[in-house]
Amino acid sequence: MVQGFKYHGTNKVFYSKYENGSWQEGILSNSISIELSVLSSAIQYGQSIFEGLKAYRSKDNRILLFRPDANYERFMTSSERLLIPRMTKSYFLDAILKVVDANRDLVPSYESKGALYIRPFIIGTESVLGVRSSETFLFGIVATPVGSYFKDGFQPIRLTTTSYDRAAPNGLGHVKVGANYAASLYPKKLATKDGFDDCLYLDPKTHSKIDETGATNIIGIKGNEMITPQSNSILPSITNQSLQILAKDYLNLKVKKRSIKINELELFDELGACGTAAVITPIKEVYHDGHTYQFDSYVILHKLYNLLQSIQYGDIKEPYGWVYSL
Ligand code: PLP
Ligand code: COI
Repeated sequence: MVQGFKYHGTNKVFYSKYENGSWQEGILSNSISIELSVLSSAIQYGQSIFEGLKAYRSKDNRILLFRPDANYERFMTSSERLLIPRMTKSYFLDAILKVVDANRDLVPSYESKGALYIRPFIIGTESVLGVRSSETFLFGIVATPVGSYFKDGFQPIRLTTTSYDRAAPNGLGHVKVGANYAASLYPKKLATKDGFDDCLYLDPKTHSKIDETGATNIIGIKGNEMITPQSNSILPSITNQSLQILAKDYLNLKVKKRSIKINELELFDELGACGTAAVITPIKEVYHDGHTYQFDSYVILHKLYNLLQSIQYGDIKEPYGWVYSL
């Protein structure tokens, strides 16, 4: 069984170059290493974007992808923000299919509840010294089997707020760029040193409302409502958007997207972290400013988790056209 969220090897990696104003035909390579100028805009100035999605093995041995078109849309939003050239949806999806097909045998078994994690990325490859965009780029896709992001199974985690920000009010928080994750490394290190699993970042302007963790959105349950933060410095999570629809359609919950003051956590019944890697991970504690908000019920979150996973692993059919079968 694949343990944890880390690189567990791969069969084939997809690479294609952007040169002379267009994306070239890609190749499948045996190697995750490339030759790259140390002065490339990716290395020097962080011109680097990425995505994350999973391929799941169904009980009847089909390979399923969950909403890859939504990853494409977000990839293009990120690319626009970092001056990276667009590609067509069919170019992106074809490349994903090629990689999944070449790594089919690495998709974990249905029983293991693991998945093949797919990591598309684009980096600026031209050597630059002055601060400017590269004119050449590399698009790559790596796929590797993964287990749980935080802990195995549906086990609760502990978060702490931090005085650090991962994103600026009108910065890059709403796009999936390497720089956001670089900004999160130090505060996460401090948090884990104190026994927490990650930070819960506050809105960077007022530090009074909750944003998200370093790798997930946040959802809360209060009575018959599912509430999730509205903020322009958080990543629009595809998992969260899907859960909002499932919560309304399958569980009859009222879904609200609005700013959430940190002290409102006192009134929440359940709190969870959600994302492709984390699925839904329940939160048992949020430490903030000398106070610990505690949660010990995960009934609704567990229902949402089971519903989402049943769709992703093909146990139940959904009416939205989210699942691609290969
Ligand atoms: N927020 C951050 C900062 C993330 O890195 C991720 C992971 O991609 C998410 C939220 C969840 O997004 P998604 O559900 O699209 O994976
Ligand atoms: C994901 O959930 O796909 C992520 O990218 C989160 C993290 C591993 C960066």
